[in-house]
This record gives sequence, C-alpha cells and structure tokens, in this order.
Amino acid sequence: MNIRYTNEINAVDWQQVSKIIRDIGWGERSPEELKSAFQQSSFTRFAYVKNDLVGMGRTVDDGKYYGWVVDLAILPEHQGKGIGTYILGELEEDLKPFLSTMLTAAPGKSGFYEKLGWVKQTAAYIWPRSEKQKRAFTENC
Ligand SMILES: CC(C)(COP(=O)(O)OP(=O)(O)OC[C@H]1O[C@@H](n2cnc3c(N)ncnc32)[C@H](O)[C@@H]1OP(=O)(O)O)[C@@H](O)C(=O)NCCC(=O)NCCS
Repeated sequence: MNIRYTNEINAVDWQQVSKIIRDIGWGERSPEELKSAFQQSSFTRFAYVKNDLVGMGRTVDDGKYYGWVVDLAILPEHQGKGIGTYILGELEEDLKPFLSTMLTAAPGKSGFYEKLGWVKQTAAYIWPRSEKQKRAFTENC
C-alpha cells in the first residue's frame, strides 16, 4: 500500500482530523480548534492513502529543552500497517535536538511504545481534571 507522509499543514482537511479523533474514541474536538492546535505545533506529520488522510501526529515543545509527542492517531481501519511507527519515528527525529522527548501513552498503548524502545517513566504525574481521567491514567496502562 502506498502511504504518503507529509508535514504540509495548509492542505489538511480538519474535518477528517476531527473524524479520526472521534473514531479512535477520543471524543469530539472541533475542526477549528484542531487546526489552531496543530498550527501551534512545531512539528506535525500527516499520513495519506491515495488522497485520504488516515493518520497524524504532532509535538508540543518549548523550542529548546522539552518536547512531547502528542495526538498520534491512526484511523482504526489503517492501524497495524506501520503508520504509527513511522510518524512517531519522524517526530522523535524532529525532537532530537531537545534535552528530552516525552509522551503519555493512552490507556492500553504502553506496549506499542515499549516495543519501539520508549522507556516508561516512574515519576510522571498528571493533575486529574476528572475522576474519569484519573482512572484512565492509573489503570490498565
Ligand atoms: C497506537 C497507534 C498510534 C499505533 O499505530 P499503528 O499504525 O496502528 O501501529 P503500527 O502498525 O506502527 O504497529 C507497530 C507495532 O506495535 C504493535 N502495537 C500496536 N498497538 C499496540 C498495543 N496497544 N500494544 C502492544 N503493541 C501494539 C503492533 O502490533 C506492531 O507490532 P509488529 O511491528 O510486531 O507488527 C494506533 O493504533 C492508534 O492510533 N491508536 C488509537 C489512538 C491512540 O491510542 N494513540 C496513541 C496515543 S498515546
């Protein structure tokens, strides 16, 4: 399968980004707010099959010391094809000059990152915004 990767942000269909986020179970995020968030990210990657956006990822960083990989998300029907691995590798490469590169695994996804050599932190904390969020990050990780 021919998969095209790009960091070209101007041609992105934000409705489709919003759909991907919804389809993987992260709930509703508006196309406009997603566009704004991605535009404020130093590094982004989008994966296309033919002309269809099937996955993406981006970073959050301070431009110098700390960088996080966030919103790595692949359409369910295109998962398991190496797309997540590829995008993650590219973003990690983009963040190489930084002091550290971090990410928070979504519940149940630790295995994906550990397989690729990411190391689980033992001292990472999150301020829980809700009981649901607290459970999500303390169970089944
Ligand atoms: C997690 C995710 C990004 C992985 O992307 P992907 O394109 O499906 O993964 P890849 O095809 O690159 O898989 C790479 C390897 O990781 C493995 N893997 C994928 N998900 C895994 C999991 N939850 N636990 C353990 N291994 C996993 C695959 O089996 C594959 O192994 P292989 O190379 O031996 O075949 C993708 O499944 C996804 O978008 N999930 C929903 C959103 C999400 O949770 N994102 C992560 C945010 S922290």
